[in-house]
Amino acid sequence: MCGIIGYIGKKEASSILLQGLKRMEYRGYDSAGISLLTDDDKIFTHKSAGKIADLRSSIVVPASANGLGIGHTRWATHGEPSSINAHPVMDSKCEFALVHNGIIENYQTLKNNLIKKGYEFTTDTDTEVIVQLISDYYEGDFEEAVRSALKDLWGAYGIVVISSHHPDMIIAARKGSPMVIGYGQDENFVASDVAAFLKYTRDIFNLEDDEMAIITADGVETKTLENSLVTRARETVLFDLKNIEKGGYPHYMLKEIHEQPETVRDSLRGRILLDEGTVKLGGLAQVEKQLIRADRIILTACGTSWHAALVGEYLIEELARLPVEVEYASEFRYRNPVITEKDVVIAISQSGETADTLAAIKEAKKAGALVLGICNVVGSAIARETDGGIFIHAGPEIGVASTKAFTSQVIVLSLLAIFLGREEKCLTEDNAKSILREMLKLPEKIEDILKGSEKIEEIGSHFNQSRNFLYLGRGFNFPVALEGALKLKEISYIHAEGYPAAEMKHGPIALIDESMPVVFIARKEDPTYPKIISNIQAVRARKGKVIVIATEGDKEIKKNADEVIYIPGTLRYLSPILSVIPLQLLAYYIAVQRDCDVDQPRNLAKSVTVE
Ligand code: G6P
Repeated sequence: MCGIIGYIGKKEASSILLQGLKRMEYRGYDSAGISLLTDDDKIFTHKSAGKIADLRSSIVVPASANGLGIGHTRWATHGEPSSINAHPVMDSKCEFALVHNGIIENYQTLKNNLIKKGYEFTTDTDTEVIVQLISDYYEGDFEEAVRSALKDLWGAYGIVVISSHHPDMIIAARKGSPMVIGYGQDENFVASDVAAFLKYTRDIFNLEDDEMAIITADGVETKTLENSLVTRARETVLFDLKNIEKGGYPHYMLKEIHEQPETVRDSLRGRILLDEGTVKLGGLAQVEKQLIRADRIILTACGTSWHAALVGEYLIEELARLPVEVEYASEFRYRNPVITEKDVVIAISQSGETADTLAAIKEAKKAGALVLGICNVVGSAIARETDGGIFIHAGPEIGVASTKAFTSQVIVLSLLAIFLGREEKCLTEDNAKSILREMLKLPEKIEDILKGSEKIEEIGSHFNQSRNFLYLGRGFNFPVALEGALKLKEISYIHAEGYPAAEMKHGPIALIDESMPVVFIARKEDPTYPKIISNIQAVRARKGKVIVIATEGDKEIKKNADEVIYIPGTLRYLSPILSVIPLQLLAYYIAVQRDCDVDQPRNLAKSVTVE
């Protein structure tokens, strides 16, 4: 959601903070600010609406600023995006400056109490109550004041706070919002995202919920809110900074689309046992028996990950004959679902930090279900909260519109379905082997699709002024239609809807006229292919413009389409992994042609760590 960074050491804090904020800008970008401690023990704060570039060009760092500071890039939840509501937020006496990620649910009650005590509020944010509360509790002990304030809060937070009375210390804390410490030589860092300080250190420590860190230049002390010391081992970050840079591509999204041959290979690496016709999933080793005995699997997720879950449902039911339900995490957590100890709930999340998904698995855990995760970010909240799981190994995904995470999630769900199919004795060794062999060919087939990018760009140019789009698919490709529509609306702001192709006649067909482009996924390997051809004809009869994602060699389809994008054939179970790629590219090129900010689309955030 928002990005947070703090630095304490001998270097010039302002440039480290601005660099770190730039790296996290994908998390939020409607306003930003930094606070620096000055040699006369005052806090200098500068904030601006807009992006980090606006902050950088408007700031004049005082000569007296020293090596301690905090920064924030914001995605507004309470209070409009403006320089006043940007963080850091200060208390009335300007003795504390605080940055916050999350939502304080009882802020209005707390604010009313503080106003009664004479505090004056200058922002519309929920964050201001935290810093005013700290000031209210402060009697000379900074740590104790922060601890007392945090105990009054309901909701989610990741905070970092500094005080003019304590020029040698930064305090950070978390509850439901990521916060990671970076250890340097005579300097230390804290951030909501390791990318913010990876240039300086790989030696890190993830704070858990209800923990706070007291950070000085020489060391870090981690304590619980009950004031007991925490002694967990530090971790080492293994990925490279170049993986989170653009590597010559104009946008992260395009880079990530092009990484898919490699990321699919990485998701498969070491997991296929071709000779035995099965797979090895190390993260499930401890829970295998419970998983196999499950009455039902519930897949829960949000956004693109929810679309991957839908493919997962089709895969697991088809290959393992186990009942699967797919739930929006935001609904699941509140709708009082029936969950038993014989259920297995699997959260799917690229970031591993999505607040609704995290809350959903906490509910499932309470009900006694086995809880697993399919995540990208190692060490993320969901990865830590679950009893086991499978990492997708797609590497950092920075573009707000998820691409490579989707294909890797579907790869991992395919592996899971094969594993379960073999264990449940529904999938023969030979069938499993042929699916696995085909999976190994997918990276090359993705490379082939990417070679056709120019044609997709050109098709985009014919339709980039359309106001609406329909995406239709059936079977395994129905979730791909949803994902194609989501990609387009996220980054080009064109209204797009995905539907199961046969459902078109129950409503969306009324929308079709000569100005409506309809994207069909019509794959020869799909048993419903002839039915999709009928659906295409129904659109043509109403003068809709038809763009088809078709299988190489399907010459007939040309007669039925205005535009055809050919992609290699594959097994129908694996079809989504290929058919989604031209849709990612189509959305990308249309957004670029419309001059949209592809990596930072308006109103969206990469990781939604609030409700
Ligand atoms: C946000 C992102 C989406 C993502 C969704 C779920 O809405 O913009 O791209 O699919 O969150 O995120 P997760 O990290 O849980 O997969």
